[in-house]
Amino acid sequence: MRLARLIDLEGLLAYLRAMSLRDIITLPDPLLRQTSKPVVGVDKAVRKIFDDMLETMYDAPGIGLAAVQIGVPQRLVVIDLSKDGEERQPLFMANPEIMSASEALSDYEEGCLSIPEFFEMVSRPSEVKVRYLDRQGEPQELNASGVLSTCIQHEIDHLNGVLFIDYISKLKRDRVVKKFVKAQKLGKL
Ligand code: NI
Repeated sequence: MRLARLIDLEGLLAYLRAMSLRDIITLPDPLLRQTSKPVVGVDKAVRKIFDDMLETMYDAPGIGLAAVQIGVPQRLVVIDLSKDGEERQPLFMANPEIMSASEALSDYEEGCLSIPEFFEMVSRPSEVKVRYLDRQGEPQELNASGVLSTCIQHEIDHLNGVLFIDYISKLKRDRVVKKFVKAQKLGKL
């Protein structure tokens, strides 16, 4: 019942009633390069997508997921940085926008559920200020640093058709894309 405090009762009931695992699309699916459309507001249908995203992300497991990764090109992101055994702390973001970013950069080893088993160091602004609509459709602003800052930037990139491999060397990027194209041809994905 610990979830109740985090998602509110209506959210929890909807989650338990309707949650469903969705397939995560992977490279070289062209949808990953598409720009996602803003949502008009956060209604029941959007909350259902949020819940499916969260369930799918926890199952993977991952710490962030954009709606386009389950084949829904809408500007929706879920993030949860809580560790195994800790209380879950899901963050729901509709139409997230970065308002400002620090000049200082941080390096983190990134991975992506749409590019399984591939990790590389990426340099991004250490701190960002982000604006979004929460699960209730209320406007929120958040100052993020550390892994949260990186994760938010990674997920917002997905909404613009940008992947973390776009920040690494062309050589490494071409190599990983080729690997996934080949795997798809062989029917392994
Ligand atoms: Ni990703």
